[in-house]
Amino acid sequence: MGLMSVLSLYPEPGAKRPLRGTYLSLKLHERASAGEVHVYGNFIVSLDGRISVWDSSLDDQQVPRSLANARDWRLYQELAAQSDIMLTSARYFRQLAAGCAQDLLPVADGHGYEDLREWRREHGLQAQPDVLILSASLDIPLQALPGDRRLWIVTGADAPEQRVRLLEHAGARVVRCSGPHVSGAEIRGLLEDQGYRSAYMIAGPQVHRTLLMDGAVDTLFLTHRFRLLGGSNFHTLLEGEIGSPRALQLCTLYLDCEPGFEQFYAQYRLSGAPR
Ligand SMILES: NC(=O)c1ccc[n+]([C@@H]2O[C@H](COP(=O)([O-])OP(=O)(O)OC[C@H]3O[C@@H](n4cnc5c(N)ncnc54)[C@H](OP(=O)(O)O)[C@@H]3O)[C@@H](O)[C@H]2O)c1
Repeated sequence: MGLMSVLSLYPEPGAKRPLRGTYLSLKLHERASAGEVHVYGNFIVSLDGRISVWDSSLDDQQVPRSLANARDWRLYQELAAQSDIMLTSARYFRQLAAGCAQDLLPVADGHGYEDLREWRREHGLQAQPDVLILSASLDIPLQALPGDRRLWIVTGADAPEQRVRLLEHAGARVVRCSGPHVSGAEIRGLLEDQGYRSAYMIAGPQVHRTLLMDGAVDTLFLTHRFRLLGGSNFHTLLEGEIGSPRALQLCTLYLDCEPGFEQFYAQYRLSGAPR
């Protein structure tokens, strides 16, 4: 697969550049003001708004092969490379344990990603970002948990104490929020208290809603793949009430020109979000 090229449409229309490095040059780990954390999310989405569709062979939601692709994955990895911590859902770990998810959030693993491993070293980031899991149920298979980095699990005030103890015994740090649901504001507070400077949200619509509700998403990266998927059982990138509509400002927009991989890579800043 060639790595040339993407065409900038905004803010510099007409400039061509290699795909590689397009997001790595953003320095997301340096975006936050002193004492704060920069939270950014990323989705690949079809033109009819799907991030996942029902897969009857897996009996679960899945990002379809017609949507996922290697060039978007390169940018996903560039975003991950800039993170101190990745924010994800308990459901991801249940899918992982059932063999229905990609491997355990490895950043820059394997051939072709050596530059990202080197980039983390050069910029003083640990080899792999820490992981934070949101869960109300605490139904998280212990065998699926990462053992090579710090693991946070954030849950509600009423979460079952026995599950808390099991997860702590397995090495996780479990934090209860003040209410029955995990709150985005409390997650942001935890991240800032712990000195995290960049946090990469890679979960689905509920985690996104949780963070967005409390103004805890600063930047959204969306790959708009030129596909229509249809179907009636699917997820979109945000589900449930968010109080009031949020405005987004376009920061950068690229068109991927590689034949067979045509898609837009958009970066939006959330504005007017309560803090
Ligand atoms: N196309 C893409 O870019 C993309 C990106 C991400 C995900 N996806 C797909 O979208 C689908 C859904 O992803 P997901 O499962 O990560 O979605 P999600 O809707 O973000 O996560 C759902 C789970 O997270 C926990 N959770 C979320 N908000 C919470 C809160 N406020 N308080 C307590 N717990 C909370 C709950 O865990 P408990 O049930 O344990 O309480 C819940 O079951 C998957 O098929 C995934 O592959 C696609």
